[in-house]
Amino acid sequence: MESLTAFALFFGAVVPLFFPAASTVLFPKDALPTKSGYLPVNTTSDSAVFYTFYEAQNPSTSLSHTPLLIWLQGGPGCSSMLGNFYELGPWLVKPDPTHPNNLTLAPNPGSWNRLFGLIFIDNPIGAGFSVAASPEEIPRDQTSVARHLFIALRSFLTANPTFGSRPLYLTGESYAGKYVPAFGYYLLEQNSRLPSSLRINLQGVAIGDGLTHPVTQVTTHAVNAYFCGLVNRKQQTQLEHLQNEAAKLTSEEKWQEAREARNKVFDTLLNMTGLPTLYDFRRNKPYEMEMVTEFLQIEEVKEVLGAKTNIVFEVCSDVVDDALSEDVMKSSKFMVEQLVKKSKVLLYQGQFDLQDGVVSTLAWIEQMEWEELEMFLEAERKVWEVNGLLSGYVQRWGGLTHAVVSGAGHLVPTDQSLSSQAMIEDWILDKDVFGNENIGDSILEQGAFGSENKGSIFRTLTNSFRD
Ligand SMILES: *[C@@H]1O[C@H](CO)[C@@H](O)[C@H](O)[C@H]1NC(C)=O
Ligand SMILES: *[C@@H]1O[C@H](CO)[C@@H](O)[C@H](O)[C@H]1NC(C)=O
Ligand SMILES: *[C@@H]1O[C@H](CO)[C@@H](O)[C@H](O)[C@H]1NC(C)=O
Repeated sequence: MESLTAFALFFGAVVPLFFPAASTVLFPKDALPTKSGYLPVNTTSDSAVFYTFYEAQNPSTSLSHTPLLIWLQGGPGCSSMLGNFYELGPWLVKPDPTHPNNLTLAPNPGSWNRLFGLIFIDNPIGAGFSVAASPEEIPRDQTSVARHLFIALRSFLTANPTFGSRPLYLTGESYAGKYVPAFGYYLLEQNSRLPSSLRINLQGVAIGDGLTHPVTQVTTHAVNAYFCGLVNRKQQTQLEHLQNEAAKLTSEEKWQEAREARNKVFDTLLNMTGLPTLYDFRRNKPYEMEMVTEFLQIEEVKEVLGAKTNIVFEVCSDVVDDALSEDVMKSSKFMVEQLVKKSKVLLYQGQFDLQDGVVSTLAWIEQMEWEELEMFLEAERKVWEVNGLLSGYVQRWGGLTHAVVSGAGHLVPTDQSLSSQAMIEDWILDKDVFGNENIGDSILEQGAFGSENKGSIFRTLTNSFRD
């Protein structure tokens, strides 16, 4: 990949880029990140991660107390610019309504930076606009990923000293089901060694449609597909055979073969169902991620973002995918088990994802080694509504929250922008069904059965059923 070798320049210390008035036709001034640029991860090489930072639009506290979110894309090797410009950033790439062949940026009412600061990091080096000075420096395991992220975060906080006190939340999707726990676990370890003045204020981690404990997750596809009505019993058995093989190879620590066996499960499922993607079984075409590629390959867009213009942007890097290939089937479950005791953990999935969806996540939650697991499993799964509309289901006990997002596939914020925003805000602020109070009881106390505004939760109780 060109980006590995093309950079002789050293960007030196952390120099966040500010954008006083630079904007272009493609990139209105309001859409520019508050800061963006590169954070070095290695003092002896040019390797650096690219980031974009968007300050909170309407913070409800002073900025020094306003939560800060880091978003990490999956892959391995996909760019967080996908999250930024296609999922949860303040402006999203869309076809220009008046010239459909051109792309434009449009404000995202469901942006995750309404109340919180939001940092997108192209992770690991070699992904997106990030720079790997040599292929050998690309991480091959989660500890190396976490070490780079930690160095980058420290540089960011050094350059922005007032941010040090802000509550930090690590978020991400899909393969970030590995990165997010690994980074969080690494921060806990570092904090235990650091004086309190230097500790990172980690408050929680959130994973959307994550791959975290593959040996268990890979065994759920057959039964899930059967009960979604996508395969028959014979096909279910075929899939079970393939996924058991993947689980067996994982247990034997034959990491590469195990990964290939998992891919065979997916290929077979696609073949059996004729679906264009496993990310959402309602879709008759895949998510349109290539819009982001097209947009970020435009020279002036790279320039205003402060990205290296000689990088040919790819949404997902094959070089990074190769580097982490042996990591794919390894587990990060034990890291989540530490995090759930010392911070908050949110695991959310889109209802229609066949790849890393609800059933796949619940299967490994049930295997967590955590003293409070039984209490979590016994906790009520509450109906969750946003603005009176059914948005999903939320179950919480202690540090762990599980959320199913209705009407969404793998890319939850793309599919359910407003629900995803309500989810992240309410989870961070401990509000409504994401808080600890028993909403069921409080509704009954308010006499909701007779009231108009709360009635919808109970609507089906009095409906008759018609097929
Ligand atoms: C930093 O770069 C050097 C030279 O390529 C490499 O040997 C070393 O492992 C790198 N360190 C980290 C933390 O990536
Ligand atoms: C559409 O894109 C083309 C090619 O980049 C450009 O020349 C043209 O000005 C654009 N049209 C509009 C209305 O932005
Ligand atoms: C599934 O694979 C078979 C055998 O290779 C092929 O003939 C068939 O067209 C495939 N079906 C789909 C939907 O891709």
